[in-house]
Amino acid sequence: MAERTQVGIVGAGPAGLLLSHLLARAGIDSIVIEDRSRDYVENRIRAGVLEQGAADMLDEAGLGARMHAEGQFHDGIEIRFQRRGHRIDFPSLTGGKRITVYGQQEVVKDIIAARFAVGGTIHFEVSDVAVRDFDGDKPRIVFRKDGQPSEIECDFIAGCDGFHGICRLSFPDGVLTAFDRDYPFAWLGILSESPQASHELIYTHTDDGFALLSTRSPTLQRYYLQVAPDEDIGEWPDDRIWAQLQARTALADGSFRIPEGPILQKGITPMRSFVVEPMQHGRLFLAGDCAHIVPPTGAKGMNLAVADIRNLTAALVAFYRSGDQRLLDGYSARCLRRVWKAQRFSWWMTTMLHLNPADSPFDKHRQTAELDYVTGSEAAMTALAENYVGLPFNEPEL
Ligand code: FAD
Ligand code: DHB
Repeated sequence: MAERTQVGIVGAGPAGLLLSHLLARAGIDSIVIEDRSRDYVENRIRAGVLEQGAADMLDEAGLGARMHAEGQFHDGIEIRFQRRGHRIDFPSLTGGKRITVYGQQEVVKDIIAARFAVGGTIHFEVSDVAVRDFDGDKPRIVFRKDGQPSEIECDFIAGCDGFHGICRLSFPDGVLTAFDRDYPFAWLGILSESPQASHELIYTHTDDGFALLSTRSPTLQRYYLQVAPDEDIGEWPDDRIWAQLQARTALADGSFRIPEGPILQKGITPMRSFVVEPMQHGRLFLAGDCAHIVPPTGAKGMNLAVADIRNLTAALVAFYRSGDQRLLDGYSARCLRRVWKAQRFSWWMTTMLHLNPADSPFDKHRQTAELDYVTGSEAAMTALAENYVGLPFNEPEL
């Protein structure tokens, strides 16, 4: 089977789906291919926090109805250390901005529904995907669908296939430079059927390690615990998880307790920082996790994917409207400038909040002083808040 489209998109995560939706609204045709099933991508539990600008973008793209009905709008977060809580208020520090807590898989469901509602094409459960001829002006995506060899001929390929995808790996040798950092910890995440412990997210630092209380709905909670990178999930029966969550979030006056409930899902997520430069070669453009990974502290992963797609859409629209290549040529540099700022913020939040087994007594005092400063100085709180709600999409001129 051979098909023809303007933009061939590999990957039906937030990046690939949003690109397809935004292009369609601008009258540009695309086809998305995805190696997993629709059911799998619609139920994959991952990120949960949308920056103000990302939520606004979904709204402007006509994708906000369910987000407004079912998402939660939060005006701040709490940072808890030495058993005391410190709230950081976003609207007063950022000129009225806040965050939306709405699961990534809900965003994915909303965009898939929107694409199918207007006859969009997404091929799920394809295999043996390869990208070809993107050095020239007739790139192709080859794959198997229902066991049959298939091909999409297009003008551009968008590599939106996540960290383990094939698009980044298809760049010719020597083009890409990778930058990365590993951390000596991972996150054990759970989904629990229980009432909310707190109205807003709580990030805690304790001598037992980091914990994060987030939420998905009034009856569904998302909690995380810092664990060792090689931790075996089998060593974490539900009782141990609850005991550690309670211990790491307790307040000095004993007034805080998380309501417990059945744990519906648990899993361990490794943590790394990773960036490749450039994010483009010929007519193959990378967006989202296939080009960069952040450690999750600070909730930047999905938001970075949305920001890349905003840039890529603008560049493709400019090209198809007037033949103007300049935005396409500047795509990688424009994305990377903001990506590195999000990398810096995620690295900073991660090192500030986690317990690093290699830290010296000096490091521990410095870390406590940093938490004390960040929660006590309006200037420092403003710096945290403006990054958390999301830096502007459009970078100022250098
Ligand atoms: P993805 O969502 O990874 O989408 C890529 C898509 O491409 C997938 O559907 C994949 O199946 C598909 N694909 C892969 N290879 C191929 C191929 N060869 N052919 C076709 N399709 C292919 N971020 C946070 O901010 N907070 C969190 O708590 C958080 N938790 C996470 C937990 C996990 C386990 C992971 C992996 C990530 C987490 N993230 C989190 C990061 C966040 O979810 C990502 O940044 C976000 O999913 C990026 O979207 P994307 O579309 O770029 O990539
Ligand atoms: C969530 C994940 C994060 O990484 C974070 O910093 C805040 C919330 C979440 O999954 O809800």
